[in-house]
Amino acid sequence: MVKSDIKIKDPLDFEKVVALSFKRKGYEIIMPPTNTKGYDIELRKDDKCIAVQVKNHKAKCNTSQVKKFQHFLEQPDASKFTEGWFISANGYSKPAITDIKAEEPEDLRLGIFIADRDRVSWTYGNPESISSKEPELEPKPKPESKYIGVFTCKGGVGKTTVAAHLAGAFALMGHDVILLDLDPERNLRKLFSQDIDDEDASVFVPPINKNEMGTTITVLNHDEWNPEDYPDIKITICDCSPVLDKNPKSLVEKFDYCVIPTTLNPLGVSKNCDVIIRTFKHIRQLNSHAEMFALINNYHSNQNFVKKNQVLREHLKRSLSKYTSTDHKCKFIDPDAAKIRYSTSLLYWGYHIVEGTKPQLAFNSHGGKSYPRTDFLQLAEYLEEHTTIDELRQQGH
Ligand SMILES: Nc1ncnc2c1ncn2[C@@H]1O[C@H](COP(=O)(O)OP(=O)(O)OP(=O)(O)O)[C@@H](O)[C@H]1O
Ligand SMILES: [Mg+2]
Repeated sequence: MVKSDIKIKDPLDFEKVVALSFKRKGYEIIMPPTNTKGYDIELRKDDKCIAVQVKNHKAKCNTSQVKKFQHFLEQPDASKFTEGWFISANGYSKPAITDIKAEEPEDLRLGIFIADRDRVSWTYGNPESISSKEPELEPKPKPESKYIGVFTCKGGVGKTTVAAHLAGAFALMGHDVILLDLDPERNLRKLFSQDIDDEDASVFVPPINKNEMGTTITVLNHDEWNPEDYPDIKITICDCSPVLDKNPKSLVEKFDYCVIPTTLNPLGVSKNCDVIIRTFKHIRQLNSHAEMFALINNYHSNQNFVKKNQVLREHLKRSLSKYTSTDHKCKFIDPDAAKIRYSTSLLYWGYHIVEGTKPQLAFNSHGGKSYPRTDFLQLAEYLEEHTTIDELRQQGH
């Protein structure tokens, strides 16, 4: 590694601008050799050795980018670093912040570099952290609730699990959510109430920041649901029946978005593709505006399966393109952008019914981490980026 006297030729060279800013604050700067992977700047001060990753993207940094840096910090090559600082020029997506605040890693900080003030505003990891929230200037009109259907004409692929935990991710991000149970099996009611005859099937999702309010997920059957009773609800998620005709037509017509869970396995890949296309077509017959997303559930992320997963997903994507190329509102979510990994917390989710204990989502951390929490926040982030759900936040909810 070469200690360098940094000279900026290009004023837009964000990496060097950030490095110089820290230099002025008394840090020793070591620029790693070109093409070093994982970090951009090394900072030293007292007994601290800090790996800094900088991102000067127009878009906010998302969960995957932050996770990648965290993964780097865990590698043996990074063992000399006492901390990792992720410095963005344009902030972080809400799911990325939510996930990090829930995980509370001690060796990671997220900051936003404010160039004209030559300083970093810390989003996570500084005791005097400055909130990245922009102050609201004026009240804005309330947006309509968005309807998300979790739907597929195949049983057992994770509709209920995905519907409930996607609701959980939006709840963690500060939205109250209605979960509509359209499946006659009434699995959601069982999962969210302590007693099956319990009138009230709901969970309170505590806030990640102690000074915020917390949110609720309320489970309703179709006959209990009247949107006028819930004027403040901005997100309604429907766990649909796998028998497509059993889902009320009037509700399918309302869907803004549909999430269609599927799995990646060699014997099922062709059949799953047919099922997804059939689901796309069926919903499209009833609803001309819904954007639909096929999502991989039960993804095995183990390193040994990287190649097999790649081949299977390319195969699925290619087969689906027969339909997605004709209906541009239908997409396959590339697992690099969002997927739900296989997790024992999800496998055993619902065990509380057997035990008779309090309902809760499968977001409990193990060693600070939770695959389901990260994955569902990432899915919520994907939906925000690819749809207009983000309007909810921008409109001051
Ligand atoms: N990502 C995952 N990791 C591990 N287990 C999972 C995952 N997703 C779902 N499961 C397990 O798979 C089983 C089926 O899931 P789920 O009940 O959500 O499917 P479904 O599509 O709603 O089924 P049905 O058609 O019967 O309503 C559940 O036992 C759940 O625990
Ligand atoms: Mg179900």
